[in-house]
Amino acid sequence: MKADEYRTMDRLAVRQRVHLLHSDPPDDVEASTLAYAPVSGNASVLDIGCGTGSFLARLARPQRNGRVLGLDISEAAVGSVTDRGIHAVRGDIHRLPLRDDAFDFVFARHMLDHVRAVPDALRECRRVLKPSGTFVAVVNDAGQAPLLSRLIARTVRAHGVTVPPDARPETDSGNLPGMIREVFGNVRVNSVPGSLVFPEAAPLTEFAVSLLHFYGVPADSPQYPAVCAALSQEIDRGFQQPGFVWRDRKGYSVSTATAR
Ligand SMILES: C[S@@+](CC[C@H](N)C(=O)[O-])C[C@H]1O[C@@H](n2cnc3c(N)ncnc32)[C@H](O)[C@@H]1O
Repeated sequence: MKADEYRTMDRLAVRQRVHLLHSDPPDDVEASTLAYAPVSGNASVLDIGCGTGSFLARLARPQRNGRVLGLDISEAAVGSVTDRGIHAVRGDIHRLPLRDDAFDFVFARHMLDHVRAVPDALRECRRVLKPSGTFVAVVNDAGQAPLLSRLIARTVRAHGVTVPPDARPETDSGNLPGMIREVFGNVRVNSVPGSLVFPEAAPLTEFAVSLLHFYGVPADSPQYPAVCAALSQEIDRGFQQPGFVWRDRKGYSVSTATAR
Protein backbone atom coordinates (compact mmCIF):
# COMPACT_ATOMS: atom_id res chain seq x y z
CA MET A 1 0.00 0.00 0.00
CA LYS A 2 1.12 3.57 -0.57
CA ALA A 3 1.50 4.25 3.13
CA ASP A 4 0.70 7.96 3.06
CA GLU A 5 -2.43 7.86 0.95
CA TYR A 6 -4.63 7.15 3.95
CA ARG A 7 -2.90 9.49 6.41
CA THR A 8 -6.12 11.49 6.08
CA MET A 9 -9.50 10.31 4.85
CA ASP A 10 -9.98 13.43 2.66
CA ARG A 11 -9.09 11.97 -0.73
CA LEU A 12 -10.99 8.74 -0.05
CA ALA A 13 -14.05 10.83 0.88
CA VAL A 14 -13.77 12.72 -2.45
CA ARG A 15 -13.68 9.45 -4.41
CA GLN A 16 -16.63 8.02 -2.48
CA ARG A 17 -18.65 11.19 -3.14
CA VAL A 18 -17.78 11.20 -6.86
CA HIS A 19 -18.99 7.61 -7.27
CA LEU A 20 -22.21 8.39 -5.39
CA LEU A 21 -22.99 11.54 -7.39
CA HIS A 22 -21.57 10.80 -10.85
CA SER A 23 -22.39 7.18 -11.64
CA ASP A 24 -24.69 6.08 -14.42
CA PRO A 25 -26.74 4.10 -13.54
CA PRO A 26 -26.75 5.58 -10.03
CA ASP A 27 -24.47 3.57 -7.80
CA ASP A 28 -24.35 3.31 -4.04
CA VAL A 29 -21.60 0.72 -3.64
CA GLU A 30 -22.29 0.21 0.07
CA ALA A 31 -25.97 -0.49 -0.64
CA SER A 32 -25.14 -2.91 -3.50
CA THR A 33 -22.68 -4.72 -1.26
CA LEU A 34 -25.38 -5.20 1.37
CA ALA A 35 -27.87 -6.26 -1.30
CA TYR A 36 -25.55 -9.15 -2.23
CA ALA A 37 -24.70 -9.90 1.41
CA PRO A 38 -27.70 -9.05 3.58
CA VAL A 39 -26.66 -8.70 7.21
CA SER A 40 -29.31 -9.60 9.76
CA GLY A 41 -29.77 -7.58 12.95
CA ASN A 42 -28.00 -10.08 15.19
CA ALA A 43 -25.04 -10.85 12.94
CA SER A 44 -21.55 -9.84 14.04
CA VAL A 45 -19.60 -7.91 11.41
CA LEU A 46 -15.94 -7.11 10.82
CA ASP A 47 -15.11 -4.50 8.15
CA ILE A 48 -11.43 -4.74 7.19
CA GLY A 49 -9.97 -1.61 5.58
CA CYS A 50 -13.00 0.23 6.94
CA GLY A 51 -11.85 3.68 5.71
CA THR A 52 -14.16 6.52 6.72
CA GLY A 53 -16.58 4.17 8.54
CA SER A 54 -19.58 5.16 6.41
CA PHE A 55 -20.39 1.48 5.71
CA LEU A 56 -20.24 0.51 9.38
CA ALA A 57 -22.43 3.50 10.26
CA ARG A 58 -25.17 1.90 8.13
CA LEU A 59 -24.84 -1.29 10.15
CA ALA A 60 -24.54 0.26 13.58
CA ARG A 61 -28.09 1.59 13.68
CA PRO A 62 -29.91 1.25 17.02
CA GLN A 63 -32.22 -1.55 15.80
CA ARG A 64 -29.19 -3.87 15.40
CA ASN A 65 -27.69 -5.68 18.32
CA GLY A 66 -24.96 -7.65 16.54
CA ARG A 67 -21.34 -6.67 17.19
CA VAL A 68 -19.82 -4.31 14.60
CA LEU A 69 -16.06 -3.73 14.37
CA GLY A 70 -13.88 -1.73 11.98
CA LEU A 71 -10.23 -2.54 11.35
CA ASP A 72 -7.77 -0.49 9.35
CA ILE A 73 -4.04 -0.04 9.03
CA SER A 74 -4.51 3.73 8.96
CA GLU A 75 -4.77 5.61 12.23
CA ALA A 76 -6.91 8.28 10.54
CA ALA A 77 -9.40 5.62 9.44
CA VAL A 78 -9.64 4.17 12.94
CA GLY A 79 -10.15 7.70 14.32
CA SER A 80 -12.83 8.42 11.76
CA VAL A 81 -14.77 5.29 12.78
CA THR A 82 -14.42 5.77 16.53
CA ASP A 83 -15.56 9.40 16.09
CA ARG A 84 -18.85 7.92 14.89
CA GLY A 85 -19.16 6.00 18.16
CA ILE A 86 -18.31 2.67 16.46
CA HIS A 87 -15.58 0.32 17.69
CA ALA A 88 -12.49 0.11 15.49
CA VAL A 89 -8.96 -1.22 15.91
CA ARG A 90 -5.74 -0.64 14.08
CA GLY A 91 -4.43 -3.73 12.34
CA ASP A 92 -3.11 -5.32 9.19
CA ILE A 93 -5.21 -7.81 7.22
CA HIS A 94 -2.11 -10.01 6.90
CA ARG A 95 -2.13 -10.61 10.67
CA LEU A 96 -5.48 -9.81 12.21
CA PRO A 97 -5.30 -9.10 15.96
CA LEU A 98 -8.53 -11.08 16.45
CA ARG A 99 -9.44 -14.53 17.68
CA ASP A 100 -10.55 -17.44 15.46
CA ASP A 101 -14.23 -18.05 14.56
CA ALA A 102 -15.41 -14.65 15.81
CA PHE A 103 -17.61 -13.05 13.11
CA ASP A 104 -20.68 -13.92 11.03
CA PHE A 105 -19.56 -11.54 8.26
CA VAL A 106 -16.12 -10.32 7.23
CA PHE A 107 -16.04 -7.55 4.63
CA ALA A 108 -12.96 -6.44 2.68
CA ARG A 109 -14.28 -3.67 0.45
CA HIS A 110 -12.04 -1.95 -2.04
CA MET A 111 -8.95 -2.79 -0.05
CA LEU A 112 -7.54 -6.11 -1.34
CA ASP A 113 -6.01 -4.23 -4.29
CA HIS A 114 -3.76 -2.52 -1.71
CA VAL A 115 -2.64 -5.76 -0.13
CA ARG A 116 0.81 -7.33 -0.64
CA ALA A 117 -0.06 -11.02 -0.17
CA VAL A 118 -3.74 -11.54 -1.02
CA PRO A 119 -3.88 -15.33 -0.38
CA ASP A 120 -2.43 -14.80 3.13
CA ALA A 121 -4.93 -12.01 3.74
CA LEU A 122 -7.81 -14.23 2.60
CA ARG A 123 -6.67 -17.02 4.96
CA GLU A 124 -6.78 -14.52 7.83
CA CYS A 125 -10.31 -13.51 6.83
CA ARG A 126 -11.34 -17.14 6.86
CA ARG A 127 -9.70 -17.74 10.23
CA VAL A 128 -11.74 -15.05 11.99
CA LEU A 129 -15.04 -16.09 10.35
CA LYS A 130 -17.37 -18.40 12.26
CA PRO A 131 -17.99 -21.75 10.56
CA SER A 132 -20.69 -20.99 7.95
CA GLY A 133 -19.93 -17.25 8.18
CA THR A 134 -19.79 -15.14 4.99
CA PHE A 135 -16.80 -13.39 3.46
CA VAL A 136 -17.51 -10.45 1.17
CA ALA A 137 -14.91 -8.77 -1.06
CA VAL A 138 -15.39 -5.77 -3.33
CA VAL A 139 -12.75 -4.93 -5.95
CA ASN A 140 -12.73 -2.87 -9.10
CA ASP A 141 -12.64 -4.27 -12.59
CA ALA A 142 -9.32 -3.91 -14.40
CA GLY A 143 -8.82 -0.70 -16.38
CA GLN A 144 -11.02 1.58 -14.29
CA ALA A 145 -11.91 4.99 -15.84
CA PRO A 146 -9.53 4.47 -18.80
CA LEU A 147 -9.90 7.99 -20.27
CA LEU A 148 -9.11 9.72 -17.00
CA SER A 149 -6.36 7.24 -16.26
CA ARG A 150 -4.66 8.07 -19.57
CA LEU A 151 -5.03 11.81 -19.00
CA ILE A 152 -3.50 11.61 -15.52
CA ALA A 153 -0.63 9.37 -16.66
CA ARG A 154 0.18 11.67 -19.61
CA THR A 155 0.10 14.79 -17.43
CA VAL A 156 2.24 13.23 -14.72
CA ARG A 157 4.84 12.04 -17.27
CA ALA A 158 4.93 15.48 -18.86
CA HIS A 159 6.13 16.73 -15.46
CA GLY A 160 9.00 14.25 -15.32
CA VAL A 161 7.35 11.75 -12.96
CA THR A 162 7.49 8.01 -13.67
CA VAL A 163 4.09 6.41 -13.12
CA PRO A 164 4.60 3.56 -10.62
CA PRO A 165 3.72 0.11 -12.03
CA ASP A 166 1.17 -0.44 -9.25
CA ALA A 167 -0.88 2.57 -10.44
CA ARG A 168 -2.76 -0.29 -12.12
CA PRO A 169 -3.73 -2.62 -9.24
CA GLU A 170 -2.68 -6.26 -9.53
CA THR A 171 -5.83 -7.52 -7.83
CA ASP A 172 -9.13 -6.94 -9.62
CA SER A 173 -12.44 -8.59 -10.53
CA GLY A 174 -10.61 -10.79 -13.02
CA ASN A 175 -8.25 -12.59 -10.66
CA LEU A 176 -9.70 -12.20 -7.16
CA PRO A 177 -12.52 -14.79 -7.47
CA GLY A 178 -9.98 -17.55 -8.25
CA MET A 179 -7.94 -16.61 -5.18
CA ILE A 180 -11.08 -16.64 -3.01
CA ARG A 181 -12.08 -20.07 -4.34
CA GLU A 182 -8.60 -21.39 -3.51
CA VAL A 183 -8.99 -20.37 0.14
CA PHE A 184 -12.72 -20.87 0.77
CA GLY A 185 -13.51 -23.66 -1.71
CA ASN A 186 -16.40 -21.62 -3.12
CA VAL A 187 -17.16 -18.16 -4.49
CA ARG A 188 -20.11 -16.32 -6.00
CA VAL A 189 -19.34 -13.27 -8.13
CA ASN A 190 -21.73 -10.40 -8.82
CA SER A 191 -20.64 -7.81 -11.38
CA VAL A 192 -21.73 -4.20 -11.21
CA PRO A 193 -20.89 -2.36 -14.45
CA GLY A 194 -21.47 1.34 -15.11
CA SER A 195 -20.00 4.66 -16.13
CA LEU A 196 -18.74 7.78 -14.45
CA VAL A 197 -20.41 10.81 -15.99
CA PHE A 198 -19.32 14.42 -15.47
CA PRO A 199 -21.36 17.20 -17.07
CA GLU A 200 -18.94 19.84 -15.72
CA ALA A 201 -15.23 20.21 -15.10
CA ALA A 202 -14.94 20.90 -11.35
CA PRO A 203 -15.90 17.47 -9.91
CA LEU A 204 -13.83 15.68 -12.57
CA THR A 205 -10.78 17.79 -11.70
CA GLU A 206 -11.33 17.14 -7.99
CA PHE A 207 -11.58 13.41 -8.70
CA ALA A 208 -8.42 13.43 -10.84
CA VAL A 209 -6.48 15.28 -8.13
CA SER A 210 -7.68 12.78 -5.49
CA LEU A 211 -6.02 10.01 -7.54
CA LEU A 212 -2.62 11.65 -8.04
CA HIS A 213 -1.00 9.82 -5.15
CA PHE A 214 -1.39 6.52 -7.01
CA TYR A 215 0.38 8.03 -10.04
CA GLY A 216 3.48 8.96 -8.07
CA VAL A 217 2.48 12.53 -7.22
CA PRO A 218 1.54 12.76 -3.52
CA ALA A 219 0.32 16.12 -2.21
CA ASP A 220 3.73 16.93 -0.69
CA SER A 221 5.71 16.25 -3.87
CA PRO A 222 7.34 19.24 -5.63
CA GLN A 223 5.44 18.51 -8.87
CA TYR A 224 2.01 18.43 -7.21
CA PRO A 225 0.95 22.10 -7.73
CA ALA A 226 2.01 22.14 -11.39
CA VAL A 227 0.40 18.75 -12.13
CA CYS A 228 -2.87 19.89 -10.50
CA ALA A 229 -2.84 23.11 -12.55
CA ALA A 230 -2.12 21.24 -15.80
CA LEU A 231 -4.88 18.69 -15.16
CA SER A 232 -7.36 21.43 -14.38
CA GLN A 233 -6.42 23.32 -17.58
CA GLU A 234 -6.70 20.22 -19.75
CA ILE A 235 -10.08 19.25 -18.27
CA ASP A 236 -11.42 22.83 -18.60
CA ARG A 237 -10.36 22.85 -22.26
CA GLY A 238 -12.52 19.78 -22.99
CA PHE A 239 -15.55 21.33 -21.33
CA GLN A 240 -15.29 24.44 -23.51
CA GLN A 241 -16.99 22.48 -26.31
CA PRO A 242 -20.74 23.11 -26.02
CA GLY A 243 -22.66 20.13 -24.61
CA PHE A 244 -19.47 18.23 -23.73
CA VAL A 245 -19.94 15.43 -21.16
CA TRP A 246 -17.09 13.26 -19.84
CA ARG A 247 -18.13 9.60 -19.74
CA ASP A 248 -15.72 6.93 -18.53
CA ARG A 249 -16.11 3.21 -17.83
CA LYS A 250 -16.28 1.95 -14.25
CA GLY A 251 -17.21 -1.36 -12.71
CA TYR A 252 -16.60 -3.62 -9.75
CA SER A 253 -17.52 -7.01 -8.40
CA VAL A 254 -18.98 -8.10 -5.10
CA SER A 255 -17.71 -11.62 -4.38
CA THR A 256 -19.09 -13.70 -1.55
CA ALA A 257 -17.84 -16.97 -0.10
CA THR A 258 -18.91 -19.17 2.78
CA ALA A 259 -16.55 -20.52 5.39
CA ARG A 260 -17.41 -24.21 5.66
C1 LIG B 1 -9.64 2.44 -0.94
S1 LIG B 1 -9.77 2.49 0.80
C2 LIG B 1 -11.34 1.69 1.01
C3 LIG B 1 -12.03 2.07 2.27
C4 LIG B 1 -13.42 1.45 2.43
N1 LIG B 1 -13.38 0.02 2.54
C5 LIG B 1 -14.31 1.84 1.27
O1 LIG B 1 -14.63 0.99 0.44
O2 LIG B 1 -14.64 3.03 1.19
C6 LIG B 1 -8.63 1.25 1.38
C7 LIG B 1 -8.56 1.15 2.88
O3 LIG B 1 -7.82 -0.03 3.21
C8 LIG B 1 -6.90 0.28 4.24
N2 LIG B 1 -5.79 -0.69 4.16
C9 LIG B 1 -4.83 -0.76 3.21
N3 LIG B 1 -4.00 -1.80 3.45
C10 LIG B 1 -4.45 -2.40 4.57
C11 LIG B 1 -4.02 -3.54 5.31
N4 LIG B 1 -2.93 -4.24 4.96
N5 LIG B 1 -4.73 -3.91 6.41
C12 LIG B 1 -5.83 -3.19 6.79
N6 LIG B 1 -6.27 -2.09 6.13
C13 LIG B 1 -5.60 -1.70 5.03
C14 LIG B 1 -6.50 1.73 3.96
O4 LIG B 1 -5.93 2.36 5.08
C15 LIG B 1 -7.84 2.32 3.52
O5 LIG B 1 -8.59 2.81 4.62
